[in-house]
Amino acid sequence: MNEAVMNELAEPTMKNKSGPETEESLNIEYTETVGQPFCDDAKIKTKNVNVFYADNQAIYDVSLDIGAHEVIALIGPSGCGKSTYLRTLNRMNDTIDICRVEGQILLDGENIYRKKQDPVLLRARVGMVFQKPNPFPKSIYDNVAYGPRIHGLTKNKAELDELVEASLTKAGLFQEVKDRLHAPGTGLSGGQQQRLCIARTIAVQPEVILMDEPASALDPIATAKIEELINELKENFTIVIVTHSMQQAARVSQRTAYFHMGRLIEVGDTDQIFTNPSHELTEKYITGRFG
Ligand SMILES: Nc1ncnc2c1ncn2[C@@H]1O[C@H](COP(=O)(O)OP(=O)(O)O)[C@@H](O)[C@H]1O
Ligand SMILES: [Mg+2]
Repeated sequence: MNEAVMNELAEPTMKNKSGPETEESLNIEYTETVGQPFCDDAKIKTKNVNVFYADNQAIYDVSLDIGAHEVIALIGPSGCGKSTYLRTLNRMNDTIDICRVEGQILLDGENIYRKKQDPVLLRARVGMVFQKPNPFPKSIYDNVAYGPRIHGLTKNKAELDELVEASLTKAGLFQEVKDRLHAPGTGLSGGQQQRLCIARTIAVQPEVILMDEPASALDPIATAKIEELINELKENFTIVIVTHSMQQAARVSQRTAYFHMGRLIEVGDTDQIFTNPSHELTEKYITGRFG
């Protein structure tokens, strides 16, 4: 993404001075997803996904592939269903009583909603990082060791030590905490806590990492560190990131999916979405007409 485009996306100038149009007043008819929702090398395939909270439908007929080793950004106005869709990918919606998911979600070709699927094992393969850093009330070491212990990933203390160090190193945190591994994780700064949560997620060696606005509670320096980290992690993981920052989507992702009122409007290469969107709704959103 070149600098001119980045500047144009500068958040403060985004909003239309004459006041936002309401979504209703846009009055644009929705047809079907435009762009390239499918990939040749899909890690996850979602097909005709509908999600309901009791009687309210939050996601309408979304079909989207997540490519292996890509960073895909999910963007769109608040309430459009980004978090809801993200949570379908590791069955986090199972934890919400009134939530019902229809359609197919395949991880390496296997339906993750099949009866035999153990959701705990699924979440080890498809890990999640939340908006607000949520370390356990345990030491830094125990936060990272938690998953490997539950899943029996190491044979002895030395192996566990090694895995904890490797995970903290990959999360860009080891140097800052190596002398206080047994201090509480909750004593770290917000940005460090978020990197601790990323270390905890990667310690179980997931294949996919879901991130729901992982930097929105952080200051700009901590945000830059998380973005840098995402760029490094994509070598080894597939990453799906929800962000309300278009600049962040432009900086970290290769593909971008634009959601609007529960529908997937457009998917394409991030550069194309931000410079030359095909759908009028995408265009209006990225030029700050609403959102
Ligand atoms: N736990 C929940 N219970 C009931 N409705 C929910 C719940 N979570 C989200 N919703 C509804 O689903 C829609 C999509 O929300 P969400 O996925 O959080 O959007 P986004 O992440 O894009 O802001 C909204 O109308 C929201 O009110
Ligand atoms: Mg959300």
